[in-house]
Amino acid sequence: MARAIELAERGMNTTAPNPRVGCVLARDGDIIAEGWHEQAGGPHAEVMALAALEDPQAARGAIAYVTLEPCSHHGRTPPCADALVAAGVAEVVIAATDPNPSVNGAGVERLRAAGIACRTGLLGEQAEALNPGFILRMREGRPFVRVKLAQSLDGRIALGNGASQWITGPEARADVQAWRARASAILTGIGTVAMDDPSLNVRLEGHEGQPLRVIVDSRWRTPAAARTLALPGEVLVAGCADEPVPDLLAVSPATLLPLPAAPGTAAGTAPVRVDLHALMAALAARECNEVHVEAGGQLCGALLAAGLVDELMVYIAPCLLGSDGLPSFVLAPLEDMAARPGFDWIDRQMFGDDLRIRLRPQYRDS
Ligand SMILES: NC(=O)c1ccc[n+]([C@@H]2O[C@H](COP(=O)([O-])OP(=O)(O)OC[C@H]3O[C@@H](n4cnc5c(N)ncnc54)[C@H](OP(=O)(O)O)[C@@H]3O)[C@@H](O)[C@H]2O)c1
Repeated sequence: MARAIELAERGMNTTAPNPRVGCVLARDGDIIAEGWHEQAGGPHAEVMALAALEDPQAARGAIAYVTLEPCSHHGRTPPCADALVAAGVAEVVIAATDPNPSVNGAGVERLRAAGIACRTGLLGEQAEALNPGFILRMREGRPFVRVKLAQSLDGRIALGNGASQWITGPEARADVQAWRARASAILTGIGTVAMDDPSLNVRLEGHEGQPLRVIVDSRWRTPAAARTLALPGEVLVAGCADEPVPDLLAVSPATLLPLPAAPGTAAGTAPVRVDLHALMAALAARECNEVHVEAGGQLCGALLAAGLVDELMVYIAPCLLGSDGLPSFVLAPLEDMAARPGFDWIDRQMFGDDLRIRLRPQYRDS
């Protein structure tokens, strides 16, 4: 199963909106074939492994190790459970069950009904970690949100005048490219677009296609000349449905996504702002699994306050940006230490001179 997980990782940047899945066929303790899901629309991992057998008869009596429950429904390809039954495997060992409502245990049932022994849960946690976005989208109808920030030792993400390029070194910035590449969408706020005019694309050698780029922009202020709008790939500008769209933006290459205003912001007491829950539901409806956020403190703070951050990834550079620098999270003042948001460690690693820390907000556990 550990090998099947390694194989699944090969599809890290290419399977969305499908999950990353690997499969190993074994007999008498030896691997006889392996496969992984390479691309949405292409064959699933089980079918790839079966096709890799020199002699199709060799599957008879073999054990299939699969990182995700074999599908039982006709999607873009026929059910993998049927392919395993037809191939005559004796046993299927599954790491994680598929939360997709059209599978969700039905794959296991189908295999058992055909007399095939099934076990689930082997390296289940590691297998689920391959697909945090797919799993959350199936279970909760929203994507997995990873917030990336580059900050100084004094917790600032830009100078007081807004300049932030570059806080971290080339090694950290290269690492960010790999995280962008695995995401279904890259999300920023209009504040960052106005200040930095970022590209927000993937610039990895050999990488094909681009994640969806999303600008959260309640009052449709995105300049039609923004750099990101002219680059290959789709750009979505998410604004408030009741706000007028300027003509230039309406005829720009951007796709406009009108959304409701966040509760409490439409009443005139606060500036009208996009409802971030509605935004995430809209991105899930577009089959976005992982959303990679590179925004300023306003949007990062609002996402955190809305309970929509699943992972925080912060690159800390060994420098100071000064007390008028911009904070990583703009949050309402806290008056009680007991109410301070807490985080659990995922990992930490050096990239050149910068330290990358990854954390999980504790509210995800409650
Ligand atoms: N070091 C880093 O990692 C990093 C990364 C990105 C940016 N930055 C820096 O951050 C600065 C920009 O920060 P920022 O906070 O102004 O930009 P931001 O967070 O990217 O964008 C903020 C804007 O998003 C819009 N928005 C729409 N819906 C919202 C909602 N529900 N909640 C909050 N905001 C919402 C708001 O404008 P509307 O009300 O008009 O919609 C808000 O002003 C720049 O100096 C940039 O260089 C640093």
